[in-house]
Amino acid sequence: MCGIMGYAGERDAAPILLEGLQRLEYRGYDSAGIAVIDDDGVIHIAKGAGKLGALRSGLEGVYPAGRTGIGHTRWATHGKPTENNAHPHTDCTGDIVVIHNGIVENYLELRAELRDRGHKLRSETDTEVVPHLVESYVGGGDDLLTAFRRTIARLEGAHALVVFSAKEPGRILAARVGNAGGVVVGYGVGEMFVSSDLSAVLPETQRVTFLADGEIASITAGGAEYVDFGGAPLTKTPQHVPFDPVSAAKGAYKHFMLKEIMEQPQCIVDTFRGRASFDPPGVELEDLHIADDVLASVTRVVLVGMGTSMHAALVGRTYFEQIARLPAEVDNSSEFRYRDSLIGPETLVISVAQSGETVDTLEAMADAKRHGAPQITICNTPGAQTTRVADGAVLTRCGPEVAVASTKTLTASITALYLLACHVGRIRGVVDDARLAELLGELVHVPALMGSVLKTEPEIAAIAHALSSRPNFLFLARGTQYPMAMEGALKLKEVSYIHAEGYPAGEMKHGPIALIDKMMPVVALALDDGTREKMLSNIEQVRARDGIVVGIVTEGDAEIAAKCDYALSLPRTTPLLYPLLSAIPMQLLSYHIALLRGCDVDQPRNLAKTVTVE
Ligand code: G6P
Repeated sequence: MCGIMGYAGERDAAPILLEGLQRLEYRGYDSAGIAVIDDDGVIHIAKGAGKLGALRSGLEGVYPAGRTGIGHTRWATHGKPTENNAHPHTDCTGDIVVIHNGIVENYLELRAELRDRGHKLRSETDTEVVPHLVESYVGGGDDLLTAFRRTIARLEGAHALVVFSAKEPGRILAARVGNAGGVVVGYGVGEMFVSSDLSAVLPETQRVTFLADGEIASITAGGAEYVDFGGAPLTKTPQHVPFDPVSAAKGAYKHFMLKEIMEQPQCIVDTFRGRASFDPPGVELEDLHIADDVLASVTRVVLVGMGTSMHAALVGRTYFEQIARLPAEVDNSSEFRYRDSLIGPETLVISVAQSGETVDTLEAMADAKRHGAPQITICNTPGAQTTRVADGAVLTRCGPEVAVASTKTLTASITALYLLACHVGRIRGVVDDARLAELLGELVHVPALMGSVLKTEPEIAAIAHALSSRPNFLFLARGTQYPMAMEGALKLKEVSYIHAEGYPAGEMKHGPIALIDKMMPVVALALDDGTREKMLSNIEQVRARDGIVVGIVTEGDAEIAAKCDYALSLPRTTPLLYPLLSAIPMQLLSYHIALLRGCDVDQPRNLAKTVTVE
């Protein structure tokens, strides 16, 4: 959720912090703030409500001087998104400065205690108790690190915390408590970085460490030392992570969302490149780290994820059932824990997570781990927490996804799940050479087919024009396309703020049909994937009630196209792979409708790219 950035080195900290926050803004954009300490030991703080731009314009190009500093973008949980509630927060003296991601669950109790002891708290946030607690321990004679450790011991909940003090200038302390989001420490030459996000550090350095739960980094310009919460020293060796600066820039596109939609054919190729081979047919997944006999012995698959990643997991369920011939279930990660889901070593748990830091997914994985289930994560972020918790990973190779609404990581995750299902099916002996050749042969055509769907953007933009003022939308589909109907509705909600629902088409007559009138556009996925005839009936039912039908149909299907007010056609592929194509018109429709409605496409209101609070 909130974005964290810190710097200690020889350069001016403020511009580096603002640059880093710019890359982090997708995490939260309710307010932003920085604190730097100058060479005389004076701390300067600047904050602004709203997006980072407000903070930048408030500074009017004059940056506070100082070579050590921290910065924050906020996604509000406790307290409104005002300047007063913006981080960094300080203690009574102004000497101790804190930024925070997570929730201090016992903050009311701690506030009351601190107030009783004479502390003056000025904001409505839970975070503010942290600098005051540190202050009370420093006042009692502790050094900053000890005071920080003792403070952490008082906090309930999960956190990423960063603190520095005028009493120990040049030093930044960072801690990870639980699964409230990552902490990455970046090693430069004579300078160090710390952030909630790998992507904010990578343009500066590719040598990084990741804090695990229970670890603290003490960072100065010269390097980092690590201790656990008991104060015992830890050894952590920086690792090298690759970075492609080109893929992180918007380039010629007006929005990251459009750029990322357009990148999908390449992301699919990159995700199967070097993993799928064709003569002889084979699938090799480099980071699985689960022995074949373990995979061969599982009797069930449980997939978990949130948002768009959960929709990818729903498509994956079909792949495990139809390709690997294993019973498969999907759950929202946040619901998984309430199920007492009777899993054990015989259940393969697969998490899908673009960021690899979504707290609900991490909690579901922790639960699966307690039950001894083997785990694989489908993730787009090398080194992210899900990749460290799972036994193995299939990384999607999309590069950074910057737009808050996921697009390219949806289709790349589906591709990774397809490869994984082929691999497991192979190990289980249910996918022979001929079947594998067929499955992979079909996949290899998909990027080119996606390219042709992307070319229909002008048609989609015209439909967006006609429908952008409608207040509600319904998305209907069956079978493998049903998750795509849910994704279509989610995308529209996220970026255009239009109320939309994705339904299994068979459910339409059990409720949603009551909503249909001449104002209601219904996006119907009616492809030749075994659901066409039944979808045709749904379309007739919508027409009979004067609804507006936007059909996503198979190329050449004039019969269905003629029944639709607007028809978009997709080239033919196999039923299993249609989701990779049908995702695109819905992404583009949402994008264009959002543009026409003047919405902030890349950073929709109230959302955050990585959700690290429960
Ligand atoms: C947020 C993002 C979505 C994303 C979801 C899951 O809600 O806005 O785009 O699908 O989190 O994120 P993950 O990183 O776990 O895939």
